[in-house]
Amino acid sequence: MNEKKDFYDSMGFDRGQLMTLTDAAANMMYEHSKKMLGSMIKYKELMMMYTCAMKEIKTKFEVLDTDFKVRFSRNPISSISTRIKSTASITEKMHRLGVPFSVDSIVENVHDVAGIRVICSYIDDIYLLADALLKQEDIKLIARKDYIANPKPNGYRSLHLIVTVPVFFMDEKRDMKVEVQIRTIAMDFWASLEHQLKYKQEIENQQDIVMQLKACADVIAATDERMLGIREQIEQMQDTPTEEDIMLEKLSKFDININ
Ligand code: GTP
Ligand code: MG
Repeated sequence: MNEKKDFYDSMGFDRGQLMTLTDAAANMMYEHSKKMLGSMIKYKELMMMYTCAMKEIKTKFEVLDTDFKVRFSRNPISSISTRIKSTASITEKMHRLGVPFSVDSIVENVHDVAGIRVICSYIDDIYLLADALLKQEDIKLIARKDYIANPKPNGYRSLHLIVTVPVFFMDEKRDMKVEVQIRTIAMDFWASLEHQLKYKQEIENQQDIVMQLKACADVIAATDERMLGIREQIEQMQDTPTEEDIMLEKLSKFDININ
C-alpha cells in the first residue's frame, strides 16, 4: 500500500483525480461491452429471422410440388436445400462490398444471408416454379438473374431470384430477403463439382481445365434439352383424354400420399 502511494506520489498524481479517471475508464469499458453484447444479440436474432424466412419459402416450394404431384402425377422438384450464410462469409462479403460493419448494414447490403436451392427434373420446371412463386401476392421480386438464358462464361447455369417474404414474429412482421437458386439435377451436378474444383489450388494447366469444364457444361445443357424433348414427345404420344378419362384418373389417385 505504501509502495503504491509512493509510486503515485512520485508520478505527481493526485489520488482523488486518479479515482475519477479509473471510474470513467471502467464506465467506458462497461458501456462498450454492453453495446457489443447488444449487437451480438441483435445479430443472433437477425439470423433467427432469416432462418424463418427460409422456412417460409421452402414450404411454398413444397406446397407447389405437392399440388403438381396431385394434378400431374410427377414431382417437378427433385430436392431442396437451405443454408444460412456463415459469419465469416458475411464479414468477407461486407469487406468486399466496402459497406459498414453493422447489423443494419447486413440487412441493407447482403442479399443472400438466407439461401434456398431448388433442384428440378426438367428445365421447364424451373420457370414454372419461379413463375408460381413470383405470382404469390406476398412475394416481392428484388432481383432476377437468368444464367440459363445467359450462362456465365465458365458454363454456369441456374436461375437466381432475390425475393422478400413477410414473416410474422411474436410482435412484428418483417419482410425478409431470401436468395433462391433454381436449377436442374444436371446443372447442379456441374455446379457442385466446379465449386469443389475451384478450391483445389494445386490445379496445373488452369486454362485447359477451364475449357474442359466449359465443354462439360455444354454437354450437360444439351442433355437437359434432350431429356425435356423426350418427355414432351412422350406427352404428345398420349391421346387427348376425355372428360371420363380425367375423372377416372383423378379417382385412381384419390388415396395418393400427399406428404
Ligand atoms: P456472391 O457474392 O458470390 O453471392 O455472388 P453475386 O452476388 O455476384 O451473385 P450471383 O447471383 O452471381 O451468384 C450467387 C451464387 O450463385 C454464388 O454464391 C454461388 O452459390 C452461385 N454461383 C454463381 N456463379 C457460380 C459459378 O461460376 N460456379 C458455381 N459453382 N456457383 C456459382
Ligand atoms: Mg452468394
